[in-house]
Amino acid sequence: MASSPAGLQARSVVDIEREYLLQNYARYPLVLHRGKGCFVYDAAGNRYLDLITGIGVNALGHAHPRIVKVIRAQAGLLIHTSNLYYNEYQGPLAERLARVSGLQRAFFSNSGAESMEGALKMARAHGRALNPDKIEVVALHGSFHGRTFGALSVTGQEKYRAPFEPLVPGARFVPLNDVAALEQVVCDRTAALVIEWVQGEGGINPITNEYAQRARALADRFNALLIFDEIQCGVGRPGTHFAYQTADPVIQPDIMVAAKPLACGIPLGVIMANEKAAAAISSGMHGSTFGGGPLACRVALEFLDILEELLPQIRALGKYFRMRLDELARRHHIVREVRGQGLMIGMELDQPCKQIVADAMGEGLLINVTHDRVIRLLPPYIITEQLVDRACTTMGKLLKNFKPVAAA
Ligand SMILES: Cc1ncc(COP(=O)(O)O)c(C=O)c1O
Repeated sequence: MASSPAGLQARSVVDIEREYLLQNYARYPLVLHRGKGCFVYDAAGNRYLDLITGIGVNALGHAHPRIVKVIRAQAGLLIHTSNLYYNEYQGPLAERLARVSGLQRAFFSNSGAESMEGALKMARAHGRALNPDKIEVVALHGSFHGRTFGALSVTGQEKYRAPFEPLVPGARFVPLNDVAALEQVVCDRTAALVIEWVQGEGGINPITNEYAQRARALADRFNALLIFDEIQCGVGRPGTHFAYQTADPVIQPDIMVAAKPLACGIPLGVIMANEKAAAAISSGMHGSTFGGGPLACRVALEFLDILEELLPQIRALGKYFRMRLDELARRHHIVREVRGQGLMIGMELDQPCKQIVADAMGEGLLINVTHDRVIRLLPPYIITEQLVDRACTTMGKLLKNFKPVAAA
């Protein structure tokens, strides 16, 4: 079990950061040193069960032997080529992603926001080619699509947008799962609709199949592109390759963006587009120096091989985790709801609960709170029932001892 407060022994790191880093992150006082499987260790050797996985990135846990092996091998051969030349892995990765997504063409980037940015450029180019006024993007309240100007402009949370306005024009926000509101706003000026299948940053809010179907139909009717942001909710986390594949029948987007777990911590994002959307981008219209390098792409191919084997387990463990959290919800009246999909789970409390993250660290558990009152869990895909039980025992203790912090 960890001592508390965790990791403060490495104070010098904290001091250096305070002096030299942009002060944009409010970090917890924990300096991580190494990881193995579902656990990470701080500089003093204290162990933490990692249920947030670098915000959904370390999906295979830490130091997965197959990933380590591939990184070692490729690092000794070729890390970067630029996109002036071919490398051996970008094409095969694109082919693999096309096969599992049903979207024919890939563009590789280095992050979620960069993927979103490219998708929005694709939408703008698609719209403008039809009509100069066709530049609107319909997005959802509570959404999060990244920190760059384009991605921010379609992020439906005032707190992220306000300091940087004016943003890219044309965003129209509608409430989540409100079909009537969607029908009112989508029109001939709409170039794209942007939707997270499960909102992550916004508080683990899934969209309904009916809503997604309506969005698909409206996009078709007005010749707009339907973009699914699967950066947090996709790439295996739902127990399928992508969250839109959980609907029956599958509701296929025109564009899908993904990133986080794709190369297990080596930065890699992707835009997958059908032929219609991809046709909007021709030679010279978009690019990236780092995107799709041989190291990242080879790791992603290995990850996708491993994922194939893990998908049934992700579905089973997701159900098991939800069942155990539902039990906790019945015992602790401060829990308002448990929701999510696969191994993306939110537990909403009836009050702000940010301090529960620090309390959990003191108990050797890494979790996160988003939207003030939603405990967010993005466990690794390799988690076991035994570790879920351990996490739930700790969470039960935390909920029992939870005391709201009095307003200052
Ligand atoms: C749904 C979603 N879209 C986009 C992003 C931005 O990704 P990145 O931080 O890699 O730029 C995130 C990051 O959390 C996200 O959750």
